[in-house]
Amino acid sequence: MELNILTICYLIGSITFILGLKMLSNPATARKGNLIAAVGMGFAIAGTIFLYQTKSGEGLHNYPWIFGGLLIGTIVGFLAAKKVKMTAMPEMVSLFNGMGGACAGLISVIEFGRVSEEIASGVSIHGKLITIFLGVIIGSVSFAGSIIAWGKLNGKVKDFSFGGQQILNTIMLFIMVCIAGYLVFNLNLANTFLFYVVLAGALVYGIMFVLPIGGADMPVVISLLNSFTGVAAACGGFLYNNKVMLTGGILVGAAGTLLTILMCKAMNRSLLNVLIGSFGGNKAGGAAQQDAGGSYKEINVSDASMVMAYANRVAIVPGYGLAVAQAQHICHELEKLLDEKGVEVIYAIHPVAGRMPGHMNVLLAEADVSYDKLLEMEDANDLFKTTDVVLILGANDVVNPAAKNDPASPIYGMPILEVELAKTVIVNKRSMKPGYAGIENALFYQPKTSMLFGDAKGVLQQLVSEIKSL
Ligand code: TAP
Repeated sequence: MELNILTICYLIGSITFILGLKMLSNPATARKGNLIAAVGMGFAIAGTIFLYQTKSGEGLHNYPWIFGGLLIGTIVGFLAAKKVKMTAMPEMVSLFNGMGGACAGLISVIEFGRVSEEIASGVSIHGKLITIFLGVIIGSVSFAGSIIAWGKLNGKVKDFSFGGQQILNTIMLFIMVCIAGYLVFNLNLANTFLFYVVLAGALVYGIMFVLPIGGADMPVVISLLNSFTGVAAACGGFLYNNKVMLTGGILVGAAGTLLTILMCKAMNRSLLNVLIGSFGGNKAGGAAQQDAGGSYKEINVSDASMVMAYANRVAIVPGYGLAVAQAQHICHELEKLLDEKGVEVIYAIHPVAGRMPGHMNVLLAEADVSYDKLLEMEDANDLFKTTDVVLILGANDVVNPAAKNDPASPIYGMPILEVELAKTVIVNKRSMKPGYAGIENALFYQPKTSMLFGDAKGVLQQLVSEIKSL
């Protein structure tokens, strides 16, 4: 009877994970989806704690440890999520993902300890060992890699690479897999220490794997490591014959892989190029950088307000700078004000604007911007031809025409928002400094472009008060 209830708890968990994931794909349902999946996870955890029994009918008994861990984890997780700034979200995701990888790796370490006891009894344990080694290698790589990615995102860890690093990494991985393969078939009490050699090797490999990857590519790397954690957790599901852990792990693994592929596609780069490309340093651009050396023109707040207030359609292009300035609320106020004056306002959203997938959608949702005002890149590009004013707020790479017309540019081939098709382009940023890809932007020097310098929040506040007085 108890076992049946446990199976139902796991079924609820699995179904809510799938539902939650589906709902996360739309900003309107994302919050609810997250809650539904969390409730399902609650059922799965409570069911395991109170109803799980081993084959010999024994339940869990170390409750102080379990509840102590749950309490500490809940407090730390709650406070971290409350305190985190929107722009630091990728860092937090990376750190939490690292913890997931560590848990999955630790499961393998604990189970290896048990397996060592089984060797003496002569039971065939090859299948179990394969799962244990997969869990420890993938989980440890994910843990160590995520911690380095976290350090890179908050500036504590600098890019580091040397000639032949990729070859060394490949050799290291090969040796680890060979030792693990050897142990699966030849494990005995004398060579169990080799398991810990594999564990240490996987941790070093995780560090060496992420260290040379450029800062701009960290979100892609985190997504990839996230899929690793999912696979490692699924290994834990196999080890414990725990269906909800298996389902959860597979879902995370698949979602992480799909997200990685989507991000690479949105930047028009292959995963291999991301992993060995060292993109996002201060590389020079191609021809665009030299071409860009001309002069740019500035516009003041008063003129910018007039241009927008008398337009038929204004398209706002949000970017990383809008998130840094935390200017989403005042941006929404500007939109409402223009709306009242009969101006149609739309937001043109590039899939990799900002620093994490869906960054701009989440940011604007926080300010209650209506979802139907948010246009995806293809739809926005169709509308630019008939748009009077494009207002770019802290975006740079995602509107850089070098992606279309400069084969020497590191972002060549990346689909961009073709804002230059509009009648007028107003660019708000603080200086002429490049964006994350570290390259100049020829758009800023085009005759139809005017620069409106300043912090996005301050500039938007001035625009709002100016338009109010018109
Ligand atoms: P960026 O190209 O990074 O440009 C952001 C611009 O915002 C900067 O040029 C900066 O110029 C300006 N800025 C910063 N703080 C500001 C403030 N307080 N007020 C006004 N402007 C401010 O951003 P983007 O166009 O959003 O492109 C995103 C980049 O990240 C792309 O290269 C993309 O490939 C990369 N990336 C994104 C993702 C995801 S999933 N989103 C994943 C991997 C890589 P100033 O310093 O002059 O102000």
